[in-house]
Amino acid sequence: MTKTAGALERTGGKGIPRHILMCTSEAAPFAKTGGLADAVPSLSLALAKLGHEVKIAMPRYYGIDRGKLDKLEGAMGVPVGGGEEWTAVYTTVLPGSAKNNPVRVYFFDHEAFFGREGIYGAPFESDFLDNPRRFTFVSKACFQLCRKIDWYPDIVHAHDWPTAMVPVYLKYGEKYGVSSESGSFSETKSVLTIHNLGYQGIYNKDNFFYTNLGWDVFYQSCFDDWNMMNLLKGGIYSADKLNTVSPNYARETLRQEHGFRLDGCLRSRSGDYRGILNGIDNGVWNPALDKYLPAPFSAKDRGGKALAKQALQRLFGLPENAGIPVIGMVTRLTAQKGIGELFGPGYGSAFSICRDMKLQFVFLGSGEPWAEHEILNLASRLPNFRARIGYSEETSHLIEGGADFFLMPSQYEPCGLNQMYSLAYGTVPIVRNTGGLADTVKKYDEKTGEGTGFMFDDLTPSAIYNTVGWAVWAWYNRKNHIEAMSLRGMKQDFSWNKSAREYTRLYEDALDSV
Ligand code: ADP
Ligand code: GLC
Repeated sequence: MTKTAGALERTGGKGIPRHILMCTSEAAPFAKTGGLADAVPSLSLALAKLGHEVKIAMPRYYGIDRGKLDKLEGAMGVPVGGGEEWTAVYTTVLPGSAKNNPVRVYFFDHEAFFGREGIYGAPFESDFLDNPRRFTFVSKACFQLCRKIDWYPDIVHAHDWPTAMVPVYLKYGEKYGVSSESGSFSETKSVLTIHNLGYQGIYNKDNFFYTNLGWDVFYQSCFDDWNMMNLLKGGIYSADKLNTVSPNYARETLRQEHGFRLDGCLRSRSGDYRGILNGIDNGVWNPALDKYLPAPFSAKDRGGKALAKQALQRLFGLPENAGIPVIGMVTRLTAQKGIGELFGPGYGSAFSICRDMKLQFVFLGSGEPWAEHEILNLASRLPNFRARIGYSEETSHLIEGGADFFLMPSQYEPCGLNQMYSLAYGTVPIVRNTGGLADTVKKYDEKTGEGTGFMFDDLTPSAIYNTVGWAVWAWYNRKNHIEAMSLRGMKQDFSWNKSAREYTRLYEDALDSV
């Protein structure tokens, strides 16, 4: 079944290049709401570098220009909803691909499901009513795509609840079906990556009819969630192997505090579940190559960082002063990110941080309307707090490059990419001791000056206040420590190479499983 992709490097597994289909709802640069969109394409490129043949399947959302894609010939039928839905399929090569082993992206172009603004929802409807159908359709379409292009993967790799139906379809149908003369899914195995346990895709169970699967599957795969349908739960029980995006978060999710009611399910599958730390894409998040910075910089020559700071202060209309620390933040505004404790009306800490400390604070993000409102309010009241509500790739790069500190007071954080981007850009992270933040940031030791960032345990407004205060104090009084931390961060290796090898081992374990 495995057609090899030519002369290839060692893969990190058994040295066998595999066929891998990534099934996803987001992939940068095509569609992005958060880190999932960065993780899937950069992992795919890293796997391709190891010699695997990787393809990505995802929806053609309204914002993705068909004019820039190639169309596959003929419509594709997808058996769902008791009948068949028809879709066109478009394709292109993932930017950053190597010429000798490109990663191809396939887009399902279904007007009724994806011909609208928004990936999961819109400002007036945060979770589209037909999401269970939209993403069931995508999951089933992944198999139809393989038939259409006559390419049968060794691994179908699903990500989060939107494609969690993929392992279910494989286990309860596709594995046994006749596919074509040249191949089938009989030897295919599935992997499900949990990027965020806080989003599970819980819907009215009436939607299950749309899958075209029997109710026996509903109960066998444990979709049932207090008489609702939980898509992620069904995926967790059906996938051959599971992982999440950092070792620490993998441990945390086995306990009630961070288990989002699925800790028991994960414990029951703990033998098949592990944590693999995300990497960062060195082609995109690299201060030596970053097209959004006024000048490149690196660990060897950090001169450009001062220019980035100046450009950042100018962009946000702050005094261009090298002698004052700048705290940056780029985030989705959801409870997960600690925004209640930071910006919450009445008890948030951002106001007192900016009022009491000699610093500048720049913010970029969007999400919960109350938080957007509160943040704009702060910006109008405080001379040293500046905010942009919205999404901007360019500004996020400038914040990572130009700030002295980057704040992430997360309630929980499966991996977190921004703290790794910060480290790579010599921007010292201030983080909560949780999830992937604890795996990637080493706490500052005031005595020795060791560490790569500032860290606190309790998520309270006063802990955030005190830790930012500690960092700012060190900036003014322990300059040599801050410089050394910044440099140490830049020298860390967060490339995908190591993680791609760990994924290869996970795939091999899946292929060995019965
Ligand atoms: P999460 O996926 O939970 O949001 P991550 O840290 O893994 O957290 O990834 C967030 C990604 O989304 C980063 O690449 C970050 O720069 C980006 N991001 C979030 N909000 C914005 C925004 N308003 N503008 C630009 N990029 C953003
Ligand atoms: C999720 C998590 C984040 C992680 C990202 C990519 O959105 O919230 O911590 O980095 O997925 O895996």
